[in-house]
Amino acid sequence: MNQKHLLKLLDWSKEDIIEILDLAAKLKYENKNGIKHEILKGKTLGMIFQKSSTRTRVSFETGMYQLGGQALFLSNRDLQIGRGEPVEDTARVLSRYLDGIMIRTFEQKEVEDLAKYGSIPIINGLTDFCHPCQVLADLLTIKEFKGKLEGLNMCFIGDGNNMMNSLIVGGLKVGMNVKVACPKDYRPPEIILDFAKQYDNFEMYEDPQKAAIGADVVLTDVYTSMGQEAESKKRLNDFNGYQVNKELMQVTNPGAMVLHCLPAHRGEEITADVFEAHADEIFEEAENRLHAQKAVLVALLNK
Ligand code: CP
Ligand code: NVA
Repeated sequence: MNQKHLLKLLDWSKEDIIEILDLAAKLKYENKNGIKHEILKGKTLGMIFQKSSTRTRVSFETGMYQLGGQALFLSNRDLQIGRGEPVEDTARVLSRYLDGIMIRTFEQKEVEDLAKYGSIPIINGLTDFCHPCQVLADLLTIKEFKGKLEGLNMCFIGDGNNMMNSLIVGGLKVGMNVKVACPKDYRPPEIILDFAKQYDNFEMYEDPQKAAIGADVVLTDVYTSMGQEAESKKRLNDFNGYQVNKELMQVTNPGAMVLHCLPAHRGEEITADVFEAHADEIFEEAENRLHAQKAVLVALLNK
């Protein structure tokens, strides 16, 4: 792989994504069969968190341990970055101690700046703009359950921010047909729509039912993302009807999967019955964060 960083899936080719999915499947198989792979022995990953996390933190930390390395949890509350030390200085300092940085923050620019000023691989663990690690895990899960990616119909219902953005890019790059539905004020940003315009297998709707017709996999995400809590009442109202429920699933293809990056808000973006009916897929997806990220760590840190 020629990539130094994972800042966003827009930067990666189809081949880069497929390479990671194949490596993830191999590492998962080895992990399940007790085969140790201490490929990153002696390496340290710094994990900067400016937002909460359950899956990202635990899967990266465990992944580094399983690969023979270690991970440092660096909370915004404790780092000088939280008191205003510039990213360009933090990047240059941390590059002297660490072998890679995973960062979860608000602005995509902060992730790009870490890569610009630092000299070690940077991995995006979620920004307002995208969530590439999650979507690599999602694609891995779809491939496991369906046996392929190319030609499958992906449907995303919800907000045009990080999850929708990365699913559009990742889905289209691997050859899936992508349909999304969102209220008109919650469309994805121009850069994502411009990217999607290059493909004739992308469609955007306001009506969730239309987006779900013929879907092989349906995905959704919370109405109110981290950092948007002040808007939650308005969002609850604006997203009324944007729900993955039994009626919506009736128009999908037989055997359609449902995925959710989690945490889920039952009764909002997804009903409890649909969530539980697809719990095997959703929790495999959560597990696959570990395997997909181990593949990313090996590809970027083992150089
Ligand atoms: N899906 C996801 O990124 O979960 P966390 O916020 O718990 O890391
Ligand atoms: N859109 C959600 C995803 C959480 C994993 C958020 O940004 O909070």
